[in-house]
Amino acid sequence: MAAPEGQWVLMATGRSPTNIAVIKYWGKRDEALILPVNDSISVTLDPGHLSATTTVAVSPSFPSDRMWLNGKEISLSGGRFQSCLREIRKRACEFEDEKKGIKIKKEDWEKLHVHIASYNNFPTAAGLASSAAGFACLVFTLGKLMNVKEDYGELSSIARQGSGSACRSLYGGFVKWCMGKRDDGSDSLAVQLADETHWNDLVIIIAVVSSKQKETSSTSGMRDTVETSPLLQYRAQTVVPSRVLKMEEAIKNQDFESFAKLTCADSNQFHAVCLDTSPPIFYMNDTSHRIISLVEKWNQSEGTPQVAYTFDAGPNAVLIARNRKTAAVLLQKLLYYFPPQDKDLSSYLVGDKSILGDAGLHSIEDVEALPAPPEMKIQDQKFKGDVSYFICSRLGTGPKVVADENQALIDSVTGLPK
Ligand code: DP6
Repeated sequence: MAAPEGQWVLMATGRSPTNIAVIKYWGKRDEALILPVNDSISVTLDPGHLSATTTVAVSPSFPSDRMWLNGKEISLSGGRFQSCLREIRKRACEFEDEKKGIKIKKEDWEKLHVHIASYNNFPTAAGLASSAAGFACLVFTLGKLMNVKEDYGELSSIARQGSGSACRSLYGGFVKWCMGKRDDGSDSLAVQLADETHWNDLVIIIAVVSSKQKETSSTSGMRDTVETSPLLQYRAQTVVPSRVLKMEEAIKNQDFESFAKLTCADSNQFHAVCLDTSPPIFYMNDTSHRIISLVEKWNQSEGTPQVAYTFDAGPNAVLIARNRKTAAVLLQKLLYYFPPQDKDLSSYLVGDKSILGDAGLHSIEDVEALPAPPEMKIQDQKFKGDVSYFICSRLGTGPKVVADENQALIDSVTGLPK
């Protein structure tokens, strides 16, 4: 039996990962289309630890487009949401579900309103590229709902118009955002360099650094950099093009030494162009600097890099260890300087908690008994409270449909968030 006219709600749910750039995107050549001044390369993080889940629904009974983020209604009137909705609607295809009595013709999609509910499995305020996962998920899931036939490359160029870095979250593993040359942005899209199984020794530890400071958003920060930093031109035109080639080689050959050197150098140059901006932008703080120094000294004492660090538009450190063994040693060194404030070790390290066992850290007493890292000069000072918590993760897959209706964020009868 066909559903009575206007009574049905059609839904799709998807989940998309976040990503962290190892060659940074910073600066646009076109603000409206979000076209960058250089290519960038990222690693996609395991969606089990850091991802956005989004349910999108359509029904003839919805009077307007609406969106809820982490349970709170937010405005969809912004140009970036509107670009993504418009571009997906343009590519929508006919859909029919005979059992439910739903038939949507290509031209009908323009008239149907959507309800969108999205949820991040990590704190939005932690400054961990939540907009990348969010826009990638929105575009991916809308594409599924509206029966869009385009490939992921094309979807990535739509997600790019939501937030630049979002285009890289359409794929798992190692991803390159090719800046493109065309004025309409049609060739500015993401490609996968290698999937997450290609180099699966890598372990990622994120230090979520405590900060009371309100940070400059990426969007306005990079606008100021483009307008005022002479160093940015040199970076975009001279440094990044050759660095991208070397990074692709390093990834292909699983050459950790080269991968780590390039990653650290590019993070440092990104923060240098921030400092070269007028007025200067400071994203890292003393804790970030301490973590850099810890990694640099350790890498130097080993004679070859064990860990790479990279920092985005905030003080959090993303540390990439060459394998599990080095990740466990890294964790010991980090916890020596940044012990938890309370006795609960298991809420101080989230994600893949099994790394604690690898590091021999089963209780707070084990942390207190850790020896000082021998390569460090400052050994007696500790910085309790300067790191809010750690996340242990690895490389992960691209967006996926969530088929289990119980996990949908919208009620299939009311069309409202559950
Ligand atoms: C430092 O993608 O957040 O994380 O395109 O204006 O939305 P908009 O900016 P966004 O910038 C990310 C900048 C970065 C580096 C990177 O991810 O490449």
